[in-house]
Amino acid sequence: MLISVVYILLWTLMVNKKTLISIKTAKVSDADSIVKILRTTWMATYPNSSLGIDESNLKVYLRKVRPQAIRDSISHQSSNEFFWLVRVNRKPVGLCKVVKEEGEVRIKMLYILPKYQGIGAGSALMQKVLRTFGHRSNIVLNVARYNRRAIAFYIRFGFIRTRRKVQTSLDKLPGGIVIPEVAMVRQKKD
Ligand SMILES: CC(C)(COP(=O)(O)OP(=O)(O)OC[C@H]1O[C@@H](n2cnc3c(N)ncnc32)[C@H](O)[C@@H]1OP(=O)(O)O)[C@@H](O)C(=O)NCCC(=O)NCCS
Repeated sequence: MLISVVYILLWTLMVNKKTLISIKTAKVSDADSIVKILRTTWMATYPNSSLGIDESNLKVYLRKVRPQAIRDSISHQSSNEFFWLVRVNRKPVGLCKVVKEEGEVRIKMLYILPKYQGIGAGSALMQKVLRTFGHRSNIVLNVARYNRRAIAFYIRFGFIRTRRKVQTSLDKLPGGIVIPEVAMVRQKKD
């Protein structure tokens, strides 16, 4: 009898457990979490055998993504830069960096840890970006040409592919490999 009561209690707790998604400005003390999110998500997203992009050249590329570099970039952030961290049940699982450029706003990074994708964390960050800038500014971004899931995600939020020349901020991977990108834009909506 007692066992079944405990079982029902545990089951109810599990079923009713809410997923709490919260967004806060990234702090210097978040640097270790940011490095983990960037490294893990890059390794899960960018390998592409036909382009010769594999785990080994991504690993070399990601060596420069270090906590100290992130701490420096957060502490020297200008008033045109916005860096948000998203937490699911208090665990840091994703990030978004946005920069105000001349006449438009650029999403520089949007990454959610693979295990936490598909539960609304990326949408929450995108809604934050759109609430903050979407009425006043066109929003632009670059996305890897072969990253179909991300492209579909952006289309759902009103981005369209543009033919404008991609201004990449990515360095070349070892072996001179370049991740091919496409530019997308979302027109401001009043
Ligand atoms: C693209 C990305 C930011 C979207 O964030 P997310 O938290 O996974 O998205 P959400 O949970 O808010 O989902 C939004 C929708 O897209 C779908 N979706 C998004 N990413 C998905 C994925 N990797 N696999 C399956 N479906 C995905 C969800 O099913 C959802 O659809 P629905 O609302 O109809 O159910 C995230 O998947 C990610 O970080 N991907 C890897 C890194 C990347 O590509 N970043 C963009 C670089 S430009």
